[in-house]
Order: sequence, then C-alpha cells, then structure tokens
Amino acid sequence: MTPPSSTPPEVNDDKLVFTVKPRLLRLLGDQLIRDANLAVFELVKNAYDADATKCSVRLENPDKPLRARIEIEDNGCGMDETVLRMAWMVIATDFRAQQRAQNIRSKHFNRYPLGEKGLGRLSAHKLGRFIRLITRAKGGSELVLEFDWDKLENAEELNDAAVTLQRRSPETFPSAKHGTKLEITKLRESWARGEIRRLHRAVNSLCSPFNSPTDFEVTLATPGYEHWLKGLLTAKDVNRCALYCDRGYFEKASAQFKYEFTPPPGMGKQLSPRKETVQDLRLERREGRKSYPLDLSPHAIGKVDFEFCLFDRDTVVIRSVTDDLKGAKDYLDENGGIRIYRDGIRVYDFGEPGNDWLNLDLRRVNTPSSRTSNNQILGALRLNATKSGDLREKSNREGFIENKAYEDFTVQASKQMLVMLVASTTLIDNASHWLEVKNPRHKRVKKLEGDAVRASLRLGAKSLAHVGPAALRLSRPRSADMGRDTRRSSPHG
Ligand SMILES: Nc1ncnc2c1ncn2[C@@H]1O[C@H](COP(=O)(O)OP(=O)(O)O)[C@@H](O)[C@H]1O
Ligand SMILES: [Mg+2]
Repeated sequence: MTPPSSTPPEVNDDKLVFTVKPRLLRLLGDQLIRDANLAVFELVKNAYDADATKCSVRLENPDKPLRARIEIEDNGCGMDETVLRMAWMVIATDFRAQQRAQNIRSKHFNRYPLGEKGLGRLSAHKLGRFIRLITRAKGGSELVLEFDWDKLENAEELNDAAVTLQRRSPETFPSAKHGTKLEITKLRESWARGEIRRLHRAVNSLCSPFNSPTDFEVTLATPGYEHWLKGLLTAKDVNRCALYCDRGYFEKASAQFKYEFTPPPGMGKQLSPRKETVQDLRLERREGRKSYPLDLSPHAIGKVDFEFCLFDRDTVVIRSVTDDLKGAKDYLDENGGIRIYRDGIRVYDFGEPGNDWLNLDLRRVNTPSSRTSNNQILGALRLNATKSGDLREKSNREGFIENKAYEDFTVQASKQMLVMLVASTTLIDNASHWLEVKNPRHKRVKKLEGDAVRASLRLGAKSLAHVGPAALRLSRPRSADMGRDTRRSSPHG
C-alpha cells in the first residue's frame, strides 16, 4: 500500500482533524450535479437569490474547444469583500440557509432564497476548468477572483489552494451598475447543436410558463450560432394544440379545478368546446385497491396550484393547429411531463425526460387504452416557497427528499389530480378518430362525449377507485357498439 501523500498535522496530538484535498471541490461540483444544464441552472438561481432582474447566459464558440466560453451575468446585488470571504469562499456556507430559517426575503423583490446548501456555485466546475468571477456590490470596487482548477488541484491541501483577490475600478459593472459575472473557459464538454438546443430548452423552462416571476428574466445567447436554435417552437405555440386542460389547486384535504375542452379549429363541426368545474373534491390516499381520506394539513406543503394540458398526438389533430407537425411532436417529446415550480422557479428534475415521477408511462403499459404518457402532457404544479418547507430538495437536485410529506404530495395528491384529468379526457382517442373517419353519426359522438366527461368527473368526485375502469370503458367507442358503450358507462347504471 502506498503511504498517504500528506502527513497528519500533529502526530502526537490526541486530537485529529480532517484535512481536505482540493479535488473534493471538483468531486462536489462535478459529480453532485448531473449535467451541464443543471449546472447552468444553479448559477441562474444564484442570480435570482441576488435580487437580479436579468440573468444572461452566453455561449461563445461552443464547438471550438480552445475558444469556447460560457458567461453568466446578472444585475443583482453583487458581492462585497465580506460576502466574498464569508460566503463565496466558504464551502457549504449557510448564508442562504440562515436567511431561509429566519424567513429573510430579498431586499428589493421580496424573494425567498432558492439556495440552501452552499454548494451551487461549485457546479461551475462541471462546465469548465477555468473560472473568472467578477462582482461588484452597489457603490463598491469591482472584485475579481480567478480559479484555475488544474493548478488548484495540484495543491497538497485545500488550505494551500489560495486564490488572489484583485480589486479594480469598475470595468464590467461601470458607473452605478452592480452584479456578478462568471466567465468560464477550458470547457469540459463540447457543445454540439443538440446540446445547445437542450440548453435553450432548459433555460426557457427555468421560469414557470404559467405564472413566471415578472421581475426575473433569463436569456440565452449563442452569437453566430443562432441557426442552431432555429425552428424551436415555444410553449405558447404548442399550448394551442392542447385539447384538454385542468386548472385548479389542492390544499389541506380538498381540491378544485376547472376542466376545459378546446377542440382545434377544424373540429368545430364535430365537437364543441366545453367547460366543467369540479369543486370540493376530497383528497384521497390510495392503498392497493382501497382509498382513505387524505389530509395534507399536518405537512408544510401549502396550497398547490396546478395546470395540466393534455395533447392528442394524432397527426390530423396537430396539423389542424400548426403546420409544424414534427416541431410540435419534438417539443412534446422533449418537454412532456409534469414540472414543479416553487415561487415560479423550476425545481429539478421533475418533468425532465426520463423522470416519470408520476408513473405516467407505466400507467400506459398497464392500461394501454388510457393512452396517457409523458409525451402527451405538459403540466406544472406550483408551490409557495415559504409554505412548502416539508418538500426539501436533494443535494443533487434530483427531486425532493422522500419523506411522508413528499409521498402525500406526489404519489397521492398530485397523482389524484392527474387521474382526474385522464378521467375527464377519456375521449382523447376519439377526437382524432372522428376527425379521421369523419363519422357521419357525429351527433351521437357529441352526446357520448358529453356523457363521458360528466360521468367521469362525477365518478371521480365520488371515488377514484372507479375512475380507472370507467375511463377504460368510456374511452373506446367503436362505431359498432357505440350505443352500448353509452349505456354501460352511465353513472346511474
Ligand atoms: N450571482 C451571485 N450574486 C451574489 N452572490 C452570489 C452569487 N452567486 C453566489 N453568491 C454567494 O455565494 C454563496 C454561495 O452560493 P451557492 O454555492 O450557490 O450556495 P447557496 O446558494 O446554497 O448559498 C451564496 O450564498 C451567495 O452569498
Ligand atoms: Mg445557490
């Protein structure tokens, strides 16, 4: 065995202390954060915490490893020398954690801090091996720190890995400006077209599309490479293709929502728009086939607003709204899923591709005819930061810690809301089906559809235990046995 490379400080002393190799910082930054998009997100969150109104992400020469660089700049409060020493230079600083604990909100925009663990900025190492930090607090000098990680990692111990503070008169933040800029070079990854498009998608999903904070904007620039982002549809474009939406909230032991069916323009003859309101729906906890009343009051979860939009991926339906069939389908493939936002800012990685936290795709396997999967739904749950303290993020930003509050919030309540949506949209197959075959008996279809929605809403309101099977029966009106289906699905039968 090779001897350890550093000798313990006091060999005869009975008190031992840990020493730390500088590579720990890279391990933390590099391995705690899954990918470059999440790393960028951590840095953007710091801009939000610093009360910035703007955070711009700029990627230069993404495909030229030697000249590639990433800049993340905000117009937030910046850091003075004390904060730089006491917070930025302290690994696992509890600077934001303290603010959270004392419910101290940001000075100008009254924001509740997103930071907590004091590790987020280390994710910059995930992006590159050379980092220049430029920061200026209001009226102060401009401070510059350079981290050359190849050099720092050669130091024997973290204590020896010093960086030199430069003070200069303002250049990056002249006159009355203040803020923080990170310039990252020697990038660890090359960025091809696909990755840039993914980054664009990530940056654009940081703020909730439904109630984004109006005072915080994140932008991505890729000068000279704009063509790589061409043809990307926006959430707005795609939302026009949504046929079914549930919007509402759940809180304590109950929920309410509005259900809306919006047939695309071409379907106006066969199907009419519809709105239903479901009030005072009792929350339920499912165990196997049984369900019990669920009350979220014992947990700090607060009121949860939600919005779920369900899409019919059928070619005819999408084409009736947009010419860009591939674009719309790609958008749904990449963005489909249910996201969570806290005070309008995304919580990762709910709703990312591959994170099927509500088991939608599994559901599809078990009951193929209910035909709901992640790439058919765009959904968001919105939490209030101060009130949802029992939903705590994991250090690696991959969801919430799995405690009881989490289980009741996700597996039970959120899932229930989703089942309600699926129940109220059991006819998702039919819209396209009837468009396609232009079934002459569309009057009966219309009636059947109305019955189905009402039936499933009512059933759902009564007991979710019945919604699954009922939805199944209702969802497949084959032309031959349409009448029979209507009778069988009647809530009174
Ligand atoms: N863009 C920024 N503007 C001002 N201060 C910042 C910025 N980024 C980081 N900081 C400071 O550095 C500290 C550490 O940031 P970070 O590693 O993300 O941990 P956390 O956000 O959990 O505190 C923050 O608490 C804050 O004081
Ligand atoms: Mg942070």
